[in-house]
Order: sequence, then C-alpha cells, then structure tokens
Amino acid sequence: MLAQISSCAVVGLDGVVVEVEVDIGSSLPRIIIVGLPDAAVQESRERVRSAIRNSGFQSVRHKITVNLAPASVRKEGPVYDLPIALGVLIASRQLPPDCLDGAMVLGELSLDGSLRHVTGVLAMASLAREEGFKRVYVPAMDAPEAALIPDIEVIPVESLAQQCEMLFGRINIPPFEINRDIKPETHFPTDFKDIKGQEHVKRALEVAAAGFHNLLMVGSPGAGKTLLARAMPSILPSMVFDEILEVTRIYSIADQLPPREPLIRQRPFRAPHHTISHAGLVGGGNWPRPGEVSLAHRGVLFLDEFPEFSSRVLEVMRQPMEDKTVTISRAAGSLTFPANFQLIAAMNPCPCGYAGDPVKHCSCASSTITRYQKRISGPLLDRIDIQIRVPRVEYEQLSEKRSGETSETIRTRIEAARQIQSERFIDTDVRANADMGPADVSKYCPLTSDGEKIMRAAMSQMGLTARAYHRVLKLSRTIADLAREENIAPTHLAEALQYRTKMDVM
Ligand SMILES: Nc1ncnc2c1ncn2[C@@H]1O[C@H](COP(=O)(O)OP(=O)(O)OP(=O)(O)O)[C@@H](O)[C@H]1O
Ligand SMILES: [Mg+2]
Repeated sequence: MLAQISSCAVVGLDGVVVEVEVDIGSSLPRIIIVGLPDAAVQESRERVRSAIRNSGFQSVRHKITVNLAPASVRKEGPVYDLPIALGVLIASRQLPPDCLDGAMVLGELSLDGSLRHVTGVLAMASLAREEGFKRVYVPAMDAPEAALIPDIEVIPVESLAQQCEMLFGRINIPPFEINRDIKPETHFPTDFKDIKGQEHVKRALEVAAAGFHNLLMVGSPGAGKTLLARAMPSILPSMVFDEILEVTRIYSIADQLPPREPLIRQRPFRAPHHTISHAGLVGGGNWPRPGEVSLAHRGVLFLDEFPEFSSRVLEVMRQPMEDKTVTISRAAGSLTFPANFQLIAAMNPCPCGYAGDPVKHCSCASSTITRYQKRISGPLLDRIDIQIRVPRVEYEQLSEKRSGETSETIRTRIEAARQIQSERFIDTDVRANADMGPADVSKYCPLTSDGEKIMRAAMSQMGLTARAYHRVLKLSRTIADLAREENIAPTHLAEALQYRTKMDVM
C-alpha cells in the first residue's frame, strides 16, 4: 500500500510543500529514500526504524521506499522523520489510511520516539495556512512559534506514540493557542539619561532612529562611542506585529530564537565582532542561513571599530545597503534574504586614536592617518547619511548630578515621527524616510526656493554625489518630521547638510 503525507522544505525564507510518499514492497527489509535528500535526511532511516519499534509498533520486514517530491527541491535536515514514520505506519496498515488528510506534518524523532525541535517552523506553518491545510502537527516545543500564524490548527506533538493515539481517536490533543496581543519589549540595559553631555551626538542618533538613517561616529578612545551606540535600542521605535512576525521568521530559519519565548519583540541590534567572516555577515554556508545583515533586518547593525573589519567584508555591505536585500549565489541558483538594516558604525580617527583631539597629542604620521581612513571606501561612506565627531566629555559634564532626558521621552518623539512616515507611505513597501526611492524623494521632499539655493551651493562646495543629494533630502525630510513640519525648511536642510560635512580629521 502507498501512503502520502504532506510536509515542508524551506528555501531561503519561504516554505515549499514536500509530499512524502511511502511504499512497502516485498523484497528484503531496508529503507531507501529518494528525491534529493541530504545526508541528514538519509540518517532518518535509523531514527524512524528505532522510533517505530520503541513506540510499540511492529517493525516492517519488507523493503520501504520513501520518495520526497518534488525532486527538484533539495531536502535538508531531520524534519521529515515524523512524516516518514507515520507514512510507514499507514503503508503497513498500522494506522488508518485517511488519518492525516488535510494535515501537514513536521518533526525530528529521537530513537525513543519523542519529538525534537526543528528549525524554520514559522515559515512552514505560514505556508500550510497559505496552501489551505487544516492543521499542522509540530514538535510540542515548536508549537508556540507555529501558533503565531492565525487561522490554522497547530497540534503540539510530544511523541510518535502520542500522535498515533490521537490519530486512533483515543486521546484528544487540543490545538495550541497563544495570546497574539504581543507587547513590545521596553526594558533596556542602557538609558540615554545616564549618558552625560554629548547633546549633539544624541540628537544625531535621534534623527537616525526617526528615519532609519545610517550613522558613523568618529572620536578618541573613551569618548563614549560604544556606550552611545549600545544605548540605541532604547530609543528605537517599537515594532508593529507584522514586523515582529517578519523578523521572527528570519531568526527561526537561522535557528536563533530564544527557546522559552520564540519571538523577537525588540528591534534587532546586532553587533558582530570585526573578525566576522564574509559568510557570517551576509549569510551563506552549504544550505544558506541568514547572516548578520539579515538578522539586523528592521533594526540596527552596529559595526564597532569600523576600519578593523576586512575591506572585503565591508565592500560586500554595499549591495545590501542599496537594495535592502542580500543575494547569495550557490550551485543550485541564488537565494535572497531581506536585509533592510540601519548601519551604526564607530571608529577612531587614526590608529593611535587621538587625531584631532584637543587635549591628547596624536602620534600618527599623516600618511598613516590617511591610510587608516581610506579603509572606509568612498562609496561606502557615501551611503552613510550622518557622520559625526564624538568629542571627549569634560569633567564638569561627567560629574553633573542631574540626569538628562530619558530614552522613553526621546522614543516618544521618534515614534511620533515614524507615525507621520507610516501615514505618508501607507500602501507601499516603504516604512521610513531612508527607504524612499527617487520618485518618492521628488514627491515628498520638495525644497523652497531658499532651500534650493542652499542645496545648489552645497552640491558644488561639498562635492556631493547624486546619491548623497538624495540622501540629504531624505534626511531633511526626517528632521522636518521630527519637528512635525509639513514642509522642509532651510533650517532642516542645513542640519542635514551639517551631518555630511567632512570632519576636520576625515
Ligand atoms: N558621556 C558619558 N557619560 C557617562 N559615561 C561615559 C560617557 N562617555 C564615556 N563614558 C564612560 O566611559 C566608558 C568608555 O566609553 P566607550 O567605551 O563608549 O568609549 P569609546 O568611544 O567606544 O572608546 P574606544 O574608541 O576606545 O572604543 C564608558 O563605558 C562609560 O563608563
Ligand atoms: Mg568603543
């Protein structure tokens, strides 16, 4: 008898239905798996055999052929254990033939028949819903993740034996329900109120957060660059539900969800070390997993000690920074992951760290300083809307008892500016000013005649590129939004241009 069970593969971020067909022949006992399975799928044979025996069923004493269709999709990992085992039990008439109609089945088996965690369940449950499945069987520990998808029954399964009891109608396993009224995370380790002085840097970070702009901080050692960047999550606007779902899906496929509560409620803040590899940053591997640029999607990618990253690694960032997605080529075609992140970078102006410092003397030769700064190429720098100097804080400011504005107050202003943007870009893919394309820029960023004069002068004096011109306009739009002004005034434009001014040491 032939059994057919529906399961799922993940390609990039999307699920693809995989039909698991099981046929029992008459020759000697062995299991053959065909249909482009990888090594982990082949290992399924031993797990399925033991799990069936240890769950109180009879071992099948004939040849079992398992076909995973469509053959064009490469199957990886242990997710097919459970559908294969159930297929074997149906094909050997140990389970009713129609017991899995309308269901998708996912899960890795232990030798004793209990179920183990599989990656990417969110994408798979989402596909099951789209394809009109009535229910999806998932390992119990993955049920909270799958249940984020509404309008489909998520059945949490502890073991093969337990699921069979349910399929025989002897027990009932109720669908897993979660509370979808998800509150954003509001607890942060560093608050802006504890950072003394640095008012203009804080302002720049506020503008960056309000419009999702890239930002670079340059300053002497100990000036507070790392501290300021690490306080950034506390002012980022909270994520809306579909952003939470989108980001959680990426983390699910990268297998980076926290185990207890498999949900990313806080905007990502990724701070990879400068020794990170090319694949670690953009994603890759035999079966491509999302890299840091995708794990930072809808959030911040913080690159501290910016020039220490290898130049090859920095240059590959240019494509995702422009396209907001990253494409990974591999033998069987290419894959695209989302990568709409906000870059926050920090660096010293020179190897000793003190070039341009008013107090400490810089010991670097000027050629050394130039070589150091050249590590950040022109095209990369051109994509950074806000470039600011972080000065050292004076004793008077540091010893100041009064604390500054809280992160919550700043975040409220930022969220108001984001609200204006979401209304502006309703029904489009654009979420923040930094995402605007050229057509949006001409529509939403008109200048007054005074503004045009300032811009014309700036273009020639500062040698702005066409890209920089657009980026300045988008930044001015954000500054106007923070001020709740409908039109971009010359003061907004002037502030935006000031963030582009070459720093004395750059
Ligand atoms: N404005 C500030 N208010 C309060 N504390 C500060 C401030 N600036 C710096 N500090 C203190 O100094 C420490 C060092 O700052 P931080 O590590 O951010 O410097 P940095 O600019 O990143 O230096 P480096 O270039 O060496 O990486 C902080 O951990 C904090 O304790
Ligand atoms: Mg630092």
